Amino acid sequence: MKQIILTGDRPTGKLHVGHYVGSLKRRVQLQNSGKYDEIYIMIADAQALTDNAEHPEKVRQNIMNVALDYLACGIDPDKSTIFIQSMIPELTELTFYYMNLVTVARVQRNPTIKSEIQMRGFEKNIPVGFFCYPISQAADITAFHATTVPVGEDQMPMLEQCTEIVHKFNSVYGETLTEPKIMLPDNKACLRLPGIDGKAKMSKSLGNCIYLSESPENIKKKIMSMYTDPTHIRKEDPGHVEGNPVFIYLDAFCKDEYFSEFLPDYANLDELKAHYTRGGLGDVTVKKFLNNVIQAEIGPIRERREAWEKRLPDVYEILRAGTEKAHETAAKTMSEVRRAMKIDYFDEGNLLKQD
Ligand code: TRP
Repeated sequence: MKQIILTGDRPTGKLHVGHYVGSLKRRVQLQNSGKYDEIYIMIADAQALTDNAEHPEKVRQNIMNVALDYLACGIDPDKSTIFIQSMIPELTELTFYYMNLVTVARVQRNPTIKSEIQMRGFEKNIPVGFFCYPISQAADITAFHATTVPVGEDQMPMLEQCTEIVHKFNSVYGETLTEPKIMLPDNKACLRLPGIDGKAKMSKSLGNCIYLSESPENIKKKIMSMYTDPTHIRKEDPGHVEGNPVFIYLDAFCKDEYFSEFLPDYANLDELKAHYTRGGLGDVTVKKFLNNVIQAEIGPIRERREAWEKRLPDVYEILRAGTEKAHETAAKTMSEVRRAMKIDYFDEGNLLKQD
């Protein structure tokens, strides 16, 4: 069986380091592993509009931002197809038919939808389109017969719902759709990077992100102001590394070789953690080290982004060509679906045939 990846992001802002460790870095590794026959990376503008209906210009603006962030991270348009969701009408068409296979109660039980309804204050006024986005996401995945969906932990309920739709469709209309598998980050710290303020999630609306396109000065300012262990007041005090954002970031980004480069008193992260826990290691030392690590990881990404920013017509062409290719694949799946559902009336005069 062909190994096919589909994944994507909503274009509601520039991508941040949480996106990077949670998903982008992995995508680039998978892309370069040579183990996948096809890789589709979708800019989910239609999904972004499900809770930004009044701000289409914000979504529009961020399509280029997300594309630049992808290219900056090392997504290679010769190996991966980058495309724009709304330009593929088949995705909407599939969604409409899948809606018949899912109950309202089932979507209401989706934990991600539940928490998003709360977060957005939608309790009494849920837009129907927003409510249906898990179904539309199943369309995104199945339209490409994706076998592997590398995403963050928050997308787990979406993948479960997609799998249910696949089973239901195949049992009602015959084997047509491919069951996808979720691929979560293997490093626990990468599952959900906290914000610089220590809040559980790095998010644009909370203003606690470090962006991939951030200037070196801003990165430093943000890291030096990071929330750490509130009980670690004086340098001599014993500190906590568990749940301490500075150490979670180090868990996510640090490699042993950064110690010899930036902090040669320690051989590895375990030694640094042990000293902090014992007491006698100040936050400023750890933050300065973290700053060096993040600058080393993000610097090359920012430089590549700046190079692509000077070639916007090429980025446009990458998106246009990628969308055209993705459209062909989705159209092929759509005809398989129509055939399975026997709504292929005008193919070879089918409506005239008795069966
Ligand atoms: N829901 C994803 C997010 O919020 C974006 C997305 C849309 C997606 N469709 C997808 C991810 C299909 C993986 C597969 O980031």
